[in-house]
Amino acid sequence: MNGSSSEVPTSTRRLEGKVAIITGGASGFGESTARLFARHGAKIVIADVQDDRGQSLIRDLNLPEQISYVHCDVTSDADVRNAVDFAVSQYGGLDIMFNNAGIPGNLDFAIADADNDNFKRVFEVNVYGSFLGAKHAARVMIPARKGVILFTSSIASVVSGESPHSYAASKHAVVGMMKNLCVELGQYGIRVNCISPCAVATPLLTGSMGVDKAVVDDIICASATLKGVVPTAEDVAEAALFLGGDESRFVSGLNLLVDGGYSTTNQSYSRVIKSVFGPPSSSLSS
Ligand SMILES: NC(=O)c1ccc[n+]([C@@H]2O[C@H](COP(=O)([O-])OP(=O)(O)OC[C@H]3O[C@@H](n4cnc5c(N)ncnc54)[C@H](O)[C@@H]3O)[C@@H](O)[C@H]2O)c1
Repeated sequence: MNGSSSEVPTSTRRLEGKVAIITGGASGFGESTARLFARHGAKIVIADVQDDRGQSLIRDLNLPEQISYVHCDVTSDADVRNAVDFAVSQYGGLDIMFNNAGIPGNLDFAIADADNDNFKRVFEVNVYGSFLGAKHAARVMIPARKGVILFTSSIASVVSGESPHSYAASKHAVVGMMKNLCVELGQYGIRVNCISPCAVATPLLTGSMGVDKAVVDDIICASATLKGVVPTAEDVAEAALFLGGDESRFVSGLNLLVDGGYSTTNQSYSRVIKSVFGPPSSSLSS
């Protein structure tokens, strides 16, 4: 499936006339969001450091009037400024800034052995990179008195103990920044929201776990609350479409969990109960 906007009839395209920047847009959630936004008529700047992958996505989408790639390291003020200025000069403005680029860092689960430089690097990309994206987006959105700033946080912002400290702390920080920006920028009509996905078998997760997508999918499904659905990057893209479009025009300050309800429960207690007493009887006695 390519990103041809002809797949969605003009009358139902939800981002027609809008301009979006997607950081980390060359892979995973960002790539899926770029494909979906393109089908909904948005003009898109894909901003990433994986230039080959970004350029190949552009070629695959084959919408030269509508989509561009810029090299943008989100930890560089100059790069982020350039990406925003490029969107404005090329497409006439900026409606959606999707600060999605992120890294998992090392799988340091034990604080005593945690690597200091890794902690700083995770914060540099996940938090400082998001800060720069918001800052430069606000620079052009405030005078326009409209816009949407979106962040990809994580389920790690609400469920503790399942990811490294640096990653969990960075994703909490993103949610905190989103809420603070929501208050500041509301006066200008700018909405600010987060998407917090559960584990999804993107290159980030398969790479950090060092296993195939099928293995990651099996682990995710076995631990899921909502059964029968394998979560995909498209599920995250759909959330971005909702929050980026006018359907969510009165939604701001939201950390939208895309996790099939995983974060609502902690089943450790019932798992131990089941291991001690066995599973409860499924038949109702009358
Ligand atoms: N996959 C998951 O299970 C999961 C779950 C929750 C949240 N997230 C978050 O989702 C976001 C996207 O991750 P993904 O799973 O799609 O991973 P991914 O690795 O497929 O995509 C991330 C993209 O970000 C880019 N990137 C990394 N550092 C960058 C930098 N300094 N400047 C610009 N681009 C940079 C990468 O090149 C890559 O293209 C991240 O913020 C991640 O933390 C992922």
